[in-house]
Amino acid sequence: MSRLIVVSNRVAPTQEGRPAAGGLAIGVLDALKETGGVWFGWSGEIVGEAGEPVIEKHGNVTYATVGLSRRDYDQYYRGFSNATLWPAFHYRTDLARYDRQEYAGYLRVNAMLAKQLKALLKPDDIIWVHDYHLLPFAQCLRELGVANPIGFFLHIPFPVPEMLRTVPPHEELVTGMCAYDVLGFQTDADRQSFVDYIERGHFGHVSEGGMVHAHGHMFKVAAYPIGVYPDAIAQAAQQFSDRKPVRALREAMRGRRVIMSVDRLDYSKGLVERFQAFERFLLNAPGWHGRVSLVQVAPPTRSDVQTYQRIRQTLEGEAGRINGRFAQLDWTPIQYLNRKYERNLLMALFRMSQVGYVTPLRDGMNLVAKEYIASQDPADPGVLVLSQFAGAAEQLPGALVVNPFDLSQMAEALERALSMPLEERQARHADMMGPLREMDLSKWRDAFLADLGHVATAATVTR
Ligand code: G6P
Repeated sequence: MSRLIVVSNRVAPTQEGRPAAGGLAIGVLDALKETGGVWFGWSGEIVGEAGEPVIEKHGNVTYATVGLSRRDYDQYYRGFSNATLWPAFHYRTDLARYDRQEYAGYLRVNAMLAKQLKALLKPDDIIWVHDYHLLPFAQCLRELGVANPIGFFLHIPFPVPEMLRTVPPHEELVTGMCAYDVLGFQTDADRQSFVDYIERGHFGHVSEGGMVHAHGHMFKVAAYPIGVYPDAIAQAAQQFSDRKPVRALREAMRGRRVIMSVDRLDYSKGLVERFQAFERFLLNAPGWHGRVSLVQVAPPTRSDVQTYQRIRQTLEGEAGRINGRFAQLDWTPIQYLNRKYERNLLMALFRMSQVGYVTPLRDGMNLVAKEYIASQDPADPGVLVLSQFAGAAEQLPGALVVNPFDLSQMAEALERALSMPLEERQARHADMMGPLREMDLSKWRDAFLADLGHVATAATVTR
């Protein structure tokens, strides 16, 4: 039987109970645990000189990880991946910068990782590469003579062509992407952006069934929205409900309503706008003073990238200002926590809250939105307020969908969510649980791997 080899920059922590950062690590880990396989990527360590991969086996997953040198980390991870691609792909060209040397480092690390992986490969392995750090990875493997099927899934948005063109080596990057056998995106809009780029630039053409012929290669392009395991989440939320931190929050709230938000501290998450919309809600609805708090969990991330340092400062300022303006001796409107919590605990916190407040300015999918719905008690569910710019909005029509740039609309949505009658909450929740179960995480994995199997079989004939 062929092995599944997952490749991503960030590999989930190998120890149970250690919180994983971001949707990729959570989704991939859950998906890989069932099939078993190898997970190859960066160890998260900075080392003197990148050496051989360290191999560790936990359950049926083998982790093969390599360290990065300081220069590799600075140029490939902190530089081109997170200071060029991340902002541009999230439509923040104002925050994106470009440096040729960082791009050279990005290509160099992709080639280095491809070489390291090649040494571990068997002829019938299936390779599934994840996310923006590794756009040229298949091209690097092919140059080394690797003929295995290679698929790619992008966890973040794929920008419209005009936006993509702001990244100077856009043509080279897309050419690299064309070396994959399957390109998977979170939403149909992302898939369409890629197709538009190919067609408008006359790089190739797209035929029925999403097959693209471009740069001398034929591959499939499709949307595979990443999901969760809703029943496992519901179970965890219940089981963790009497854990100490959950009890502590319940006691601290003493019957107050809770609006809950959980995000990495990233400028794409719309945290400043979210706090300001909460402020506007408090201004518009004085009857709610003392009766509701916003709990924002935001563990810092990429804190050595300047734009992340700035968002942290701004947010601290906003939380302090809003609390100073409205707080009473026994009420803090915003509880802002810069730390990580174990995932199961977060699910229990979601379950005890009345509103899930998920308002990114741009997001590939946003698994928090799906987790929030899954963790609710169906008899008394909370309400999800969700940004129209999260990929999840395509699949969660029962949410109160808002434009995160419209503070007044968000403030109204909060008020509506807090006063929504039980029957409406139940109906909206039930509407969303169906699609969550139908499009769960195993569907995402299986649909992608089935397509990769088909396309690769056709391609080996010609390779
Ligand atoms: C997002 C990205 C992932 C990334 C995660 C955490 O979810 O799509 O690729 O791993 O953020 O960010 P970090 O830079 O800490 O890996």
